[in-house]
Amino acid sequence: MIPVILSGGSGSRLWPVSRSSYPKQFWPLVSRRTMVQETALRSQGPGFADPIIVCNNEHRFAMAEQLKEVGITAPRILLEPVGRNSAPAIAAAALLAAETDPDAVLWVMAADAAIQKPENVASALDIAVRVARAGRIVTFGMTPTRAETGYGYIEKGAPLAGYDGAYSVARFVEKPDAANATRMLQSGQFLWNSGMFVFTARTMLQEMEKYEPAILTAVRQAVQDRRSDIDFERLDATAFASSPDISIDYAVAERTGLMTVIPGDFGWSDVGSWDALWELGPRDGHGNVTIGDVAVFNTSNSYVRTDGILTAVTGVEDLLVVVNDDAVLVTHRDHAQDVKAIVSQLKKDG
Ligand code: GDD
Ligand code: MG
Repeated sequence: MIPVILSGGSGSRLWPVSRSSYPKQFWPLVSRRTMVQETALRSQGPGFADPIIVCNNEHRFAMAEQLKEVGITAPRILLEPVGRNSAPAIAAAALLAAETDPDAVLWVMAADAAIQKPENVASALDIAVRVARAGRIVTFGMTPTRAETGYGYIEKGAPLAGYDGAYSVARFVEKPDAANATRMLQSGQFLWNSGMFVFTARTMLQEMEKYEPAILTAVRQAVQDRRSDIDFERLDATAFASSPDISIDYAVAERTGLMTVIPGDFGWSDVGSWDALWELGPRDGHGNVTIGDVAVFNTSNSYVRTDGILTAVTGVEDLLVVVNDDAVLVTHRDHAQDVKAIVSQLKKDG
């Protein structure tokens, strides 16, 4: 199986640590290793080929260095001249893999998700590979805990005969509005899309040809005309830029009849916001997470992190406090999602 790591997001809700020049996947947020290192290490060992990484040209050195640091010395790093979202990135990886073996099984992962129960992933992967070889597209379904509107929802269909633990997908709904998210949560019939997919290169390319042929036209050209050196494979800029900008969820997952879900208890989190990091913990007896040179008094259920100067907090609850070399963020936990808006405002103001 070929691990494919997508590293394209800018993680703006994790400002001021995550910046577009050095986004969240390159930071140690949930362990001593960076998110991309944790992700890459998850797919090492017997049964795994060297990973294909798809990332922005701007991040090439950080990527290569961080992988080398954890002993991953022969990744194939595909560089995008511009981001065109996850569908073209996946198409590029599938086309690259298909050059050697069109029936290669790919395991697509986000560079920036946390998995706290990796021991449960292996058995799910075994089934996923078998299902993928049968020409289907697998996603892992996570039990939803809130009416999140930023995720994909999967309605579990009938069990897939012959594949214990796998189900057909009755419906895939990407990023529902709040009312629909609440309805789907309450129905108990839906799982969250983890954003990890398992399929053969052949199957994915066939479905893209069917639903988004313009992506394939552009990306096929970009892969064909790529420039390779020892460390990187650079997709052709003009060709790649001409691809539609669309995520795999809208391009394929919502439309294909081949979707399959394997429910899993992975301790999965997409680490999208500071509040998600507070939830991941570890929390002390007062529900606080403290990282770095931090002092807290009379404080509860808060996340206080400093990557620089001593930071003291007293007499507050449910706060997120993040101190960096050149910026400080203070917000209520209920407003963790607003950080994205602050960042775009700050960018506008220059
Ligand atoms: N290389 C590359 N290029 N990677 C990209 C690009 C791109 O242009 N755009 C996004 N990615 C990567 C991100 O870095 C991330 O690893 C993954 O693809 C998913 O993209 P996000 O932008 O984070 O998607 P999302 O969080 O809105 O939604 C997706 O993930 C959710 C779970 O975290 C969807 O798959 C949802 O259905 C899912 O629930
Ligand atoms: Mg995401």
